[in-house]
Amino acid sequence: MSNDTTLVLGATGKTGRRILARLRLRGTPVRAASRSTRPRFDWSDPGGWDAVLRGVDVVYVVAPTVPGPVHEFVTQAEAAGVRRLVLLSGRGADTWGDSPFGLDMRSAEEAVRGSALEWTVLRATNFAQNFSEDLFHAPLVAGELALPAGEVPDPIIDVEDVADAAVTVLTEPGRHAGRVYELTGPRALTYAEAVDLIARASGRPITYRRISPNEYAATLVGQGLSEDDADHVAEMFVMMERGETASPTEDLADLLSRTPRTFEDYVVRTAGTGAWRA
Ligand SMILES: NC(=O)c1ccc[n+]([C@@H]2O[C@H](COP(=O)([O-])OP(=O)(O)OC[C@H]3O[C@@H](n4cnc5c(N)ncnc54)[C@H](OP(=O)(O)O)[C@@H]3O)[C@@H](O)[C@H]2O)c1
Repeated sequence: MSNDTTLVLGATGKTGRRILARLRLRGTPVRAASRSTRPRFDWSDPGGWDAVLRGVDVVYVVAPTVPGPVHEFVTQAEAAGVRRLVLLSGRGADTWGDSPFGLDMRSAEEAVRGSALEWTVLRATNFAQNFSEDLFHAPLVAGELALPAGEVPDPIIDVEDVADAAVTVLTEPGRHAGRVYELTGPRALTYAEAVDLIARASGRPITYRRISPNEYAATLVGQGLSEDDADHVAEMFVMMERGETASPTEDLADLLSRTPRTFEDYVVRTAGTGAWRA
């Protein structure tokens, strides 16, 4: 276990803030970075990266939403003396073919895996916390989640497990060098089943409705996403329907020497906070 100074990008996001809490608790020297920290880190402002990278040994990288900047970031990190990179990517990134989905994560993987630094890639499947801290939350509170997902199940992962995996890798230099971990929850479930569990634990009627990818993209534009971003999210569901990412993997259990948290555990914990109250 190392106490390397650790830079956490995406520090205010779903994974970053959980990773920071864990590292701080174990006494690891950390630097939190995003557009709302001091020093400020913005993917669109490479001139500001130097201040953030100074004195850092290892970086947790959350990719920017556009392809490209991670290449320059890796160059600057190397020059600043960084020794290790741990990148968050998406499940099955090497199966996405010529889909427009995930070009951001694939570009980041290319930059990190092509670097001379020690690297590890954590490819996580869809987060449970998307239902409480991201796109699916508002529709659930409103009483209906409509997605282009049918009978192909998804082994949804708890972000607390992604954070546990990231901290393990960040604090064990050498052991995970050049590894790509495909991280999932312990059981695949359909989105209709996920919504049913949330409705039951919340004690209110919340329904699931299957819609077409085009309808979903239009809904997302209505929620404020750009047309490109909306198309990319809808495209992710089209890829999931191919079934290549429908089965759980053993990577998380191997990494943490325990079984992953269940979706039911996430639902009970989260319903208890009142997250899905009307
Ligand atoms: N959601 C899923 O199911 C899922 C599954 C697998 C992989 N992923 C991948 O996970 C990544 C997102 O991670 P997350 O969910 O932990 O984060 P998140 O909750 O989406 O938050 C995004 C983070 O990035 C920061 N950020 C946004 N724009 C930035 C910019 N221009 N420059 C610097 N920082 C910026 C935000 O902070 P500020 O606003 O303060 O800058 C925030 O800390 C994405 O690459 C996504 O593709 C997501």
